[in-house]
Amino acid sequence: MKDKTFLMIPGPTPVPESVLLSMAKHPIGHRSTEFSAVLKRVYEDMKLLFQTKNDVLVFTASGTGAMEAAIFNLVNPGDKVLSLVIGNFGERWAKISEMKGAVVTRYTVDPGCAIDPAEVKKILDADVNKEYKIVTLTHNETATGVTNDVESIVKIIREHGALSVVDGVTSLGALPCKMDEWGIDVLISGSQKGFMIPPGLSFLAASERAIKVSEECANPSFYFNWKQNRKSVLDASTAWTPAVNLFVALDTALQMMKEEGLENIWARHARIASAIRAGVKAIGLELLVKDEKVASNAITAVLPPEGISVPDIRKTIKKDFDIVVANGQKELKDKIFRIGNLGFVSDRDAITAIGSLEASLYKLGYKFELGAGVAAVIKTLAEKA
Ligand SMILES: Cc1ncc(COP(=O)(O)O)c(C=O)c1O
Repeated sequence: MKDKTFLMIPGPTPVPESVLLSMAKHPIGHRSTEFSAVLKRVYEDMKLLFQTKNDVLVFTASGTGAMEAAIFNLVNPGDKVLSLVIGNFGERWAKISEMKGAVVTRYTVDPGCAIDPAEVKKILDADVNKEYKIVTLTHNETATGVTNDVESIVKIIREHGALSVVDGVTSLGALPCKMDEWGIDVLISGSQKGFMIPPGLSFLAASERAIKVSEECANPSFYFNWKQNRKSVLDASTAWTPAVNLFVALDTALQMMKEEGLENIWARHARIASAIRAGVKAIGLELLVKDEKVASNAITAVLPPEGISVPDIRKTIKKDFDIVVANGQKELKDKIFRIGNLGFVSDRDAITAIGSLEASLYKLGYKFELGAGVAAVIKTLAEKA
């Protein structure tokens, strides 16, 4: 049915009608006082989302742009970077760092697992000459649906003295991520996830320590230049022509998020994700993430049942129910499907998603107790209400 499609992929995510309407207007001049007022609010409210006193830079670029903005303003050729990789997006930090001439060491774990902070401690303790300048990590690995214990890992990185550079693309606006309290040096995110707006903006905040290191970067980025973009935050302006309508959308979405309250947003994501996990298990399907403690509260990766393919499940749920779920990426393609509950997702959507998944599997010939998934979702939502 036209206009009925519902995205339950890990981004882009559904956009509230009030946000869509706020951006369905003529662009305003990006040097106007009207736009400056929008920017002032956005820059202030973003500090709340990042849980920081630092300025939050906003780039007209996707999340990868903010990743590049982090590395290209910190790394000099030959610098040593340790990349903690738990999936596709952790690997991206390593690739970007290599592009900038860094010497990268990867510490990689199996898909579905998280980084053990004790292992990070071992690696950094062995670096007696303090050669690692930067440690990169992903808070919430979208490719596998795993959440790293950023708080513990960053503490270890601080004790070593390296800078922590954290990807919060699918954690901010969904999961607790406390930049200042946890001591994160650089934190980045993107607009099309927990922020409930379309793709096109990305965000970066840096600690004083990181800013000092960036001042020693020989060839920093021009477009993503921290100094230039920080000056713009102070002036309530932007360095270059921004995606004006997306900033207006972000302003609207941030007001909605403030109204709901960050703690409530985090609790909603936790409740819905645990209901989805319970529903999936009750249907008899296996989760990629075996340790519930590191299972993401924004993305659930599910293995298909024996004899039924991921493309068939995705095709059926889309065709019959207008729900889009994601395939696995790279080596996980066709091995898992991923259900996102990021951003503008409610309890009703969890019931609908698992009900539609049940109906799709039933149609595809999977034998299970019809209704068990929905019952588990309803019970979990009630218990955690
Ligand atoms: C954890 C994570 N990091 C980085 C990115 C890259 O963001 P973008 O695709 O907006 O460039 C994504 C996108 O899905 C992501 O989920």
